[in-house]
Amino acid sequence: MMRLLLLCFLLVLTRPLAAQPTDTRTLLPVPAQTTWGQSRFTVKPDLSWQVFTPTQTAASQAADSAVAQAVERLVLPALLPGRVGVGPSSRKQASPLPTASIVLQYGRPGELLKLGEDESYTLRVTPMGVALNAPTHLGILRGLATLRQLATPEKKAVWLPEVDVADSPRFPWRGLLLDPARHFLPVSVIQRNLDGMWATKFNVMHWHLSDDQGFRVESKLFPRLHAVGGEGQFYTQQQVREVIRYAAQRGIRVVPELDMPGHATAWLAAYPRLASNDSVYGVARKWGVLNIAMDPTKETTYSLIDSLLSEMTRLFPDPYFHIGGDENDGRQWKRSPRIVAFMKKQGFVDAKGQPDKHALQTYYNRRVLQMLTRYQKTMVGWDEILGPGLAPEAVIQSWRGKKGLYEAAKAGHPALLSNGYYIDLNLTAASHYTPDPLPQDAPLTPQQQKLILGGEATMWSEFADSVIVDSRIWPRAAAVAERLWSAASVRDVPDMYRRLGLVSGQLETLGLQHRRAPEQLLTQLAGGRQTAVAPLRTLAHVLEPVKEYKRHFQGFKYTTQTPLTRLVDAAPAESEEAREFGVAVDGLLAYRRTAAATTSLQGQPGRALLAYLSNELEYWQANDALVQPLLKQMPSLQEYAPHSVNLKSVATLGLERLRMLEKGQAPTPAWQANALKQLDAAKAPVGQTELAVVPAIRRLIEAK
Ligand code: ACM
Repeated sequence: MMRLLLLCFLLVLTRPLAAQPTDTRTLLPVPAQTTWGQSRFTVKPDLSWQVFTPTQTAASQAADSAVAQAVERLVLPALLPGRVGVGPSSRKQASPLPTASIVLQYGRPGELLKLGEDESYTLRVTPMGVALNAPTHLGILRGLATLRQLATPEKKAVWLPEVDVADSPRFPWRGLLLDPARHFLPVSVIQRNLDGMWATKFNVMHWHLSDDQGFRVESKLFPRLHAVGGEGQFYTQQQVREVIRYAAQRGIRVVPELDMPGHATAWLAAYPRLASNDSVYGVARKWGVLNIAMDPTKETTYSLIDSLLSEMTRLFPDPYFHIGGDENDGRQWKRSPRIVAFMKKQGFVDAKGQPDKHALQTYYNRRVLQMLTRYQKTMVGWDEILGPGLAPEAVIQSWRGKKGLYEAAKAGHPALLSNGYYIDLNLTAASHYTPDPLPQDAPLTPQQQKLILGGEATMWSEFADSVIVDSRIWPRAAAVAERLWSAASVRDVPDMYRRLGLVSGQLETLGLQHRRAPEQLLTQLAGGRQTAVAPLRTLAHVLEPVKEYKRHFQGFKYTTQTPLTRLVDAAPAESEEAREFGVAVDGLLAYRRTAAATTSLQGQPGRALLAYLSNELEYWQANDALVQPLLKQMPSLQEYAPHSVNLKSVATLGLERLRMLEKGQAPTPAWQANALKQLDAAKAPVGQTELAVVPAIRRLIEAK
């Protein structure tokens, strides 16, 4: 508690005065408008709810059922913890006679599959109860997520603050990509992540169903695709329908991706006739860009794809279908005399008469686009598919940079931003929060701006299996959810982090495993001994996996079969402890620069920050003696011993520097040089992890 008070204090201290935030409280994404009252609604055990819906049709029944399920399963457990199912006291009345404490009313069933469908809502909480109104049931589903975030548990009861909310999304396409091709993610994992998506107002699950390492959806027409290409780990069509239904009930579309003509080794393992050469491929065990591609010159390639798409476009009701199209440098095509001859015959050559891989892939894309158009689908692809001759309705998903996004819109294509939202890179939530699909200085006309549909966070799963994937997604993905839902002006990073912490707790109660799973892994690594877990946790919580894709290149060979059960897999993508420590360091240094503290840190804020920082540093310093016996004893932990030693030494340096700051002393050049040398040494990755507190301690040491 003390720690929390200190933190609140330093948050206030470090907030720039110019950027007065709106009063965001517990809400993430921040709604378009909120007006807070002074009062509250306290939830009573006899809580009742009712929904007023339009006259009954099949569509309104489905909408009604989605709303009822969301209330019962997703909202009421937060309002009445421990009680199951209160049931609506009345519903489906023609004229509203609200008698319940929660009254929901919507005008018509929303068309989930219509891009840009109305998701707006108004939510009013008064001491008497809750009124949630929306033009469509989709707006009700969004408002229910807001309602759940307002629930404030106290000792005996849950209460909601008095508030008026009027809300609608900034972008109509707010996606999260899940990648069961690299590590299979069972249906239950997909479902709980759909719950997390509902809670943060994502509305598209991009399902990356095939890649070099696996083909994950059952095909009745080409069963070798899932049996051989999926090695038995795939979704049956029944399961696919169940996931789509589950997502729809939460107002989430499911957009499938079958990646082609590259990233398709699993297809070639199943049907070697698709290959560009005579090699026989197994499903890939390695990671990386393999540049193995289908043969785009053979009619048999297109007949297989056409039949498969006839099947898959019926299985997936969404009007959009993603064909991947990324990362094929065409080396296999250029090495095949037969394919080169085809390219020359078709005129797919550059100005120098050399085979033009891009022209051949555009030809391939056009063929696939024709099929998808016949099946009444709109094609989506990664930004590599952009090129002359691509039909304007094709949607471009930009992953390599903003440039692709703008070029797509300028060429008349609808476009999605994923560059900046790669949550698998283990970067900070702040780094994903900042990129905006449509910043004020976007070089686009108003007409072109309308083509920017939104964006998607991408969770590529080379280093995330079904156990730890939640911890690689949440809570950081929520920062992207807010960027895509809330106004562009919502940019207060410290306030985002404050709310991210709250959302993280809420997601855990929804069933996400982002906290539980790493904790279980730590217990396992500690040999199940509870007393040993605590110091291991202290170490793990200040470690982060190396950033971007460095895990591939640090002396440890990963394949699809490598267990993800080392300390690096339990380490958070972004260490909360290290981040908070860094905020406190910056707060202290900022305070020191103020007039009140030029000579000493004896004022209240200075003392509080010093106490907090000393406390943390002493804790880390003392941890080495506690954790070393375990690190020595467990073979799987031995590699991490240097980090613990380094944590102790940099904590010691930090404490020495704090004492100097307290006394108003400057460090000697010799002390500082030695300290920086130790910090450099502590920066080195160990066991594919980094010691996340090093940069903040360096700031402390380097402060003039
Ligand atoms: C991608 O990351 N290759 C889309």
